[in-house]
Amino acid sequence: MCGIVGYIGKNEKKQIILNGLKELEYRGYDSAGMAVMKDGELSFFKAVGKLENLAHKCHDFLSEGEGLAIGHTRWATHGKPNEINAHPHLGEYSCVIHNGIIENYKELKDKLLKENIEFLSQTDTEIIVKLFEFYAQKMDLFNAFKKSIEELKGAFAILLISKKDENKVFFAKNGAPLIVGKNSQKEFWFASADAPLIGFCDEVIYLEDLSLGYASKDELVIYENGILKNNTFVKLNNDKSYAQKDGFRFFMEKEIYEQSRVLNEVLMGRIKGDEVVFDELENENLTAIDEITLCACGTSYHAALVGMYLLERVAKIKARVEIASEFRYRKALIKKDSLFIVISQSGETADTLEALKIAKAEGAKTFAICNVDNSSIVRLAHLSLLTRAGIEKGVASTKAFATQVLTLWMFAIFIAQKKALNVNEEIKALLHTPSCVVVKQILHDKIHRLSKRYLDGHGFFYIGRDVFYPLALEGALKLKELSYLHAEGYPAGEMKHGPIALVDSKLYTIALMPENLLYEKTKSNVEELIARDSTLLSISPLDFDLSDDFIKTSKQNHFMCEFFEMMLITQLLAMEISIRLGNDVDMPRNLAKSVTVE
Ligand code: M6R
Repeated sequence: MCGIVGYIGKNEKKQIILNGLKELEYRGYDSAGMAVMKDGELSFFKAVGKLENLAHKCHDFLSEGEGLAIGHTRWATHGKPNEINAHPHLGEYSCVIHNGIIENYKELKDKLLKENIEFLSQTDTEIIVKLFEFYAQKMDLFNAFKKSIEELKGAFAILLISKKDENKVFFAKNGAPLIVGKNSQKEFWFASADAPLIGFCDEVIYLEDLSLGYASKDELVIYENGILKNNTFVKLNNDKSYAQKDGFRFFMEKEIYEQSRVLNEVLMGRIKGDEVVFDELENENLTAIDEITLCACGTSYHAALVGMYLLERVAKIKARVEIASEFRYRKALIKKDSLFIVISQSGETADTLEALKIAKAEGAKTFAICNVDNSSIVRLAHLSLLTRAGIEKGVASTKAFATQVLTLWMFAIFIAQKKALNVNEEIKALLHTPSCVVVKQILHDKIHRLSKRYLDGHGFFYIGRDVFYPLALEGALKLKELSYLHAEGYPAGEMKHGPIALVDSKLYTIALMPENLLYEKTKSNVEELIARDSTLLSISPLDFDLSDDFIKTSKQNHFMCEFFEMMLITQLLAMEISIRLGNDVDMPRNLAKSVTVE
């Protein structure tokens, strides 16, 4: 959930770490810190809040010349987001940064407290450096590091440096991502994602779980599961164009506008004639599967729900959906011949990754729908399809959701074809979807104007039926994340079973009313709310005079085309409300992009 950067070399280390952390700041921004080792001196800085505070603190510090540095941006798990709990955590002569959670830290802390070792912070991370220095009294540094790591339970990516060996960075990885990079000057870099390495490293090693080792100016030593590894680097993809906002106010806005292009990319090379073709799945006998479980978190869970409706309707295959954090502990029954699909933008979400491990261990065929190649989830699943959204920087997911839904729809069509079902109408609609998410200026302006009427109230209900119910959930999640206003997504037909009690003029209803799917049914549900004076914003291609506000969508022949157009509207609405409220659109409070903790 946090971001990690490390560097060994002679260039200005402070700036390298700050630049690297900037790329990862979206992963957590409660506090940040760095430590630099040069000429046997260990300097460190920490600051609460965004990275600019850290930059300010070390403004006058210079660190050119041979040495090493590590830096961290934090999303708090144990202990408040204050300076003491910020990384790096210090021992007497060493310091550590860590991404993940040490599950047995209390046990280890008690053991060290009995040895009269003192702790300053409330974090789980501090025990790593204290354990290391405890063992370093009895053995050499690498063995002390190794022994410490062997005692940790949980997920971690760790960098540790020590004045007792001023030339080395010790590292370990299990369950949280860690990459080692190398450049033409033969310098080593470390990062918890590709972004800080792009433009600076040519080659990388994506460390596997249970890896640990050390690096210095001339040496990189990696053990995997206790066995010394050959250092096999792979080329790093050097496309950094995503990093610019291209004139948009926020990355999220840019990503909303990019959706038409990325949906085209999802389709590219995968529609041949009137068929969906997935080369990755061509040798799989998917028609033998009689049940599919889809599992994910957050926005990806909403995409999974859409997938369930589509798999049953289009491919005539039984499908169910699980929230990953629930699934992992509920001892669910998994049929051996079933397909278990996990959906994740980042490919690193801890709950989803764990659910995948459980399903795999139970003998299910596992399949990842994911945006990040080489991510833990992609590497673990038997099969995978990449969603091709490109890097998504806005913490609130937009284009990743669009590509997940399109990929799932294509997958449903792919299975339907294998079962010789007629999918001609689906294919026509599929090809039309990129044009449904083109942002027209007139639409964006209208949503901007309307947004001023939705800055208060005691709650929002997004309602819809069928696939428009998960879209309602997603619309409400976007609003919650960005505006900090209370919003719920609800099945339109379910309002009368309780939530209708909340209705008055300060209860805002956002009604998704597609023409091609259950229009009359949804309309009746909406009328029940109007009768109780709810303020209504309806989104539909059909005029609806009873609305307080109305956004007219285009006439479409397929409900999924309406789905994508309405998705776009809900995203823009949440963003415009957030801007008016003065919130940080790209980095909303309390959130992080990749949730690599339980
Ligand atoms: O990377 P993932 O798709 O696995 O992430 C799952 C959720 O954490 C994520 O979708 C989250 O809900 C976003 N903030 C939604 O905007």
